[in-house]
Amino acid sequence: MPGAIYAEGLVKTFGDVRALDGVDLDVPEGTVLGLLGPNGAGKTTAVRCLTTLLRPDSGRAVVAGVDVLGHPDAVRRSIGLSGQFAAVDEYLTGRENLQMVGQLYQMRAKQAKARAVELLEQFHLTDAADRPTKTYSGGMRRRLDLAAALVVSPPVMFMDEPTTGLDPRNRQQLWEVIKQLVSGGTTLLLTTQYLEEADHLAHDIAVVDHGKVIAQGTSDELKARTGGERVEVVVHEREHISTAAEVLGGFGKGDTTVEEHTRRLTVPVTGGAKLLAEVIRELDSRGIEIDDIALRRPTLDDVFLSLTGHVAEEKPEGNGEQGNKQGNKKNTRKETAK
Ligand SMILES: Nc1ncnc2c1ncn2[C@@H]1O[C@H](COP(=O)(O)OP(=O)(O)OP(=O)(O)O)[C@@H](O)[C@H]1O
Ligand SMILES: [Mg+2]
Repeated sequence: MPGAIYAEGLVKTFGDVRALDGVDLDVPEGTVLGLLGPNGAGKTTAVRCLTTLLRPDSGRAVVAGVDVLGHPDAVRRSIGLSGQFAAVDEYLTGRENLQMVGQLYQMRAKQAKARAVELLEQFHLTDAADRPTKTYSGGMRRRLDLAAALVVSPPVMFMDEPTTGLDPRNRQQLWEVIKQLVSGGTTLLLTTQYLEEADHLAHDIAVVDHGKVIAQGTSDELKARTGGERVEVVVHEREHISTAAEVLGGFGKGDTTVEEHTRRLTVPVTGGAKLLAEVIRELDSRGIEIDDIALRRPTLDDVFLSLTGHVAEEKPEGNGEQGNKQGNKKNTRKETAK
């Protein structure tokens, strides 16, 4: 049986650009799928197709048990969407924005008011509740937009880069809200450029590049595909490199690589910390002095790099200096929008 979000062979072209080039997805009910990919990979296009905002050229999608192309209205009633760019009415206050959404969903006025109060509290917007949203900062708009997506608790939620533009504290808070939501049974598809976010929230991760899902699995599975763990040793003396290589070779599950100028040796291993202790004892018994030794596990960054050939665009807490230009520009625009 297909999951709460299911897609088969989705294709969407814009002129010459194949934004989606045959995307298949299957998200079991009550789980979170993280769609991970660089700028222009097709993440937003996938979300828009699945949420009935865009009609794919071909392919099939079923959301909350309903055929997306056949019954878009029914799909819309079962889903919540928070888009990549916050969609709030500038001239209404935060409270009014939330109440309006409630009323659009046919809530009684009293119920809509009460729900707005709850959400304002949950998203730390109570103090700003009665100001027009055009006075909100980018992060506040983002939070209001997410709150709006949660006015009614839909069984299936889509969040397109929910925490882009949030500071680390607000990002953490939002992660907590998302976890609560999912523990209540909601199925969620979220797109993100923050590997840490996918690692933290997603049961399954689909890496998208050039409109295709190029890898899918749990964070651990994807990391294992990137070569698993390895021991890295920096020896103190250049003359010790060959003996150290011999020692590491005895423990390794593959070839030892040696970087002469940094005196760094790396070998793939299995066995974790216990093995690391044995390696240290053996090096010591051979009289090899070491400057540094570490057990390295691949990060999602390594996975991303090895799959797409480029590093992830942005870092959650980085200063953005080395981040992707486009990504940063996007942030700046959002944060300064007035
Ligand atoms: N309405 C459109 N008209 C023309 N091209 C489009 C349109 N929407 C998307 N595209 C193109 O389709 C491709 C995928 O875009 P999409 O917005 O889905 O990427 P994304 O993964 O969401 O990127 P980002 O991380 O920057 O949000 C890009 O090449 C983009 O330029
Ligand atoms: Mg996008």
